[in-house]
Amino acid sequence: MKTNAATPAATTDASSTPTSHSHFDGVDLRQLAERFPTPFHAYSASAIHQRIGELQAALAGLDATICFAVKANPNLAILQLMANVGVGADIVSVGELRRALNAGMPAERIVFSGVGKSADEIAGALNVGIMRFNVESLDELHTLQRVAKAQDVTARAAVRINPDVDAHTHAKISTGKSENKFGVSIDEARRWFAKRKQLSHVQLDGLHVHIGSQILSVEPFRLALQRVAAFWRELEQAGHPINSIDVGGGLGVCYRAGVDQPVAASDYVDVIREALADYRGKLLLEPGRYLIAEAGVLLTRVIRVKPGVERSFLVLDAAMNDLQRPSLYDAWHDIVPVTDASRPMTTYDIVGPVCETGDTFARGRELPECVAGELLLIKATGAYGTSMASTYNSRPLAAEVLLRQGRYAVVRRRQHFEEMIAGEQPARNWETP
Ligand code: LLP
Repeated sequence: MKTNAATPAATTDASSTPTSHSHFDGVDLRQLAERFPTPFHAYSASAIHQRIGELQAALAGLDATICFAVKANPNLAILQLMANVGVGADIVSVGELRRALNAGMPAERIVFSGVGKSADEIAGALNVGIMRFNVESLDELHTLQRVAKAQDVTARAAVRINPDVDAHTHAKISTGKSENKFGVSIDEARRWFAKRKQLSHVQLDGLHVHIGSQILSVEPFRLALQRVAAFWRELEQAGHPINSIDVGGGLGVCYRAGVDQPVAASDYVDVIREALADYRGKLLLEPGRYLIAEAGVLLTRVIRVKPGVERSFLVLDAAMNDLQRPSLYDAWHDIVPVTDASRPMTTYDIVGPVCETGDTFARGRELPECVAGELLLIKATGAYGTSMASTYNSRPLAAEVLLRQGRYAVVRRRQHFEEMIAGEQPARNWETP
């Protein structure tokens, strides 16, 4: 299996002295950190473009649309960048729909996934004419029919198949096993198609599958797609034409240099080509992490080094509210000093200032000896970083900066205190419901 070559803009520039992590997409991170208080997120536009390019190149000759999973990074500037190169959106809420439309993504490149779409959300999405609903339950299908009838429009729908495949990823981000809440079994989907003509305002002519996230082998994809392909053939023979197959997202990335071996886009697409060799309809893909994770870093400074009884703590100014993945999934993120890597190594627990033990980015991590004020990079934070951030401990949402070939643009300024408390008020006017 091929692995992704290091992305020049996403890996920091090894040629610059005295350090190997001082530059990102041609921007000197030390200078950038003089301009913006840490912590803040930086994204490399070049690295995002490179990923999109790799996937688009792999898809050459196929009638395929990439719909970026907005939940991975919903920043408007990021979505705009995607829209400009023809990428659409996979959304799971009206908030994400509004972001995608605001960013200039055409409604006909937007698909709506998720187990809990409300009637109001369905109505909103129908109103703007999105491409397709990925329907996850019979109740949702009936709601879609009812809402579409009320609007006198025809909704295009795909059934999300739960293929009962183990994606061999973290249990919390595995979605394709029958015990998971997502999708319906092939048996159930078969019954939906048998009655599809009763749906006066839903055109049920698509299949969808998404088995999980951060998948590092092609085999789970192959197995899931083989099951979907077999079902597609059965449906065609039974007189149910299928116009679109959405193969979901899930492609993994490298969080731990030298350990994680991501699947190359071309190998992934080869699996799709092989499983769906005789399929001539439209293909949809919903990558999130693959397009953006390694294009993002979180810049943070060491507040202090705190020697403890059993371990030495490196206390950062970034915390679990800025990047939840380590506390939520015990996820590994490489952490490196921005300057001068040639110092004696030592072992730290790398933690944030938030008042719980779970606010830990890494345990027993080897790092060059650090001092207070030192600038560090937490790597591969572009996906599910800011999108899962909170203001826990009343810490403001961090700024986001987009970098491109030596220049930068602020794409979200750091949250002001007044914005954080906006909407809160003293309990003055007591009413009865
Ligand atoms: N399509 C659907 C229907 C999804 O639910 C997801 C992600 C994607 C596509 C994109 O998956 P990706 O290509 O990014 O793997 N917060 C977790 C990840 C949760 C993924 C949720 N669904 C994390 O930080 O690892």
